Amino acid sequence: MSFNTIERNRQRQNLDQHDSLWLFGYGSLIFKADFPYIERRPATIDGWVRRFWQGSHDHRGTPDAPGRVATLIRAPGETCLGMAYHVSPKVFDHLDVREKNGYLRFTTPMTFMDGDHADGLVYIATEDNAAFLGPAPESEIAGQIAHSHGPSGPNREYLLRLADALRELDVHDPHVFTIERHLKDILMQPGVH
Ligand code: BEZ
Repeated sequence: MSFNTIERNRQRQNLDQHDSLWLFGYGSLIFKADFPYIERRPATIDGWVRRFWQGSHDHRGTPDAPGRVATLIRAPGETCLGMAYHVSPKVFDHLDVREKNGYLRFTTPMTFMDGDHADGLVYIATEDNAAFLGPAPESEIAGQIAHSHGPSGPNREYLLRLADALRELDVHDPHVFTIERHLKDILMQPGVH
């Protein structure tokens, strides 16, 4: 089963002519920046919400037991707060490989906290990708996350670190915090490791 988007991203957007670009992160990129960056600033994008609707077969789960990770879903009138990174185009070679399980790069307008604007690139796992799992009650999502593990570590670590990072940014994300609450309840149960 192949979900590989590396070549599609390279064909869709050739970044060679840029000295630097902005990258908008809303999931793991908020708490895990494993690449060099010139500057990072909190930013928002309009018309999107964060949802744990994407399957992870290669990082936080396995092909037989996928975990759940974040993607963005269109939601007119909503705003998603994340972290923008000013980076060299080489960073996208690294991220295209790291995020090859269904994520495509798109360009989005971003607003910084001081009201400045810039365009940024954002990775979105769209609903037509093979690893897309779609909506489920937050309690079920928490159950799946509690029991999933992959090469990058336990799925729970992704959710809990993201929730902590959002709190530090003063973001209230009801979807993430509801999953976190259910997850913590599950992890308190005897026999759950
Ligand atoms: C992010 O944190 O923006 C991100 C999430 C999933 C894949 C790629 C990037």
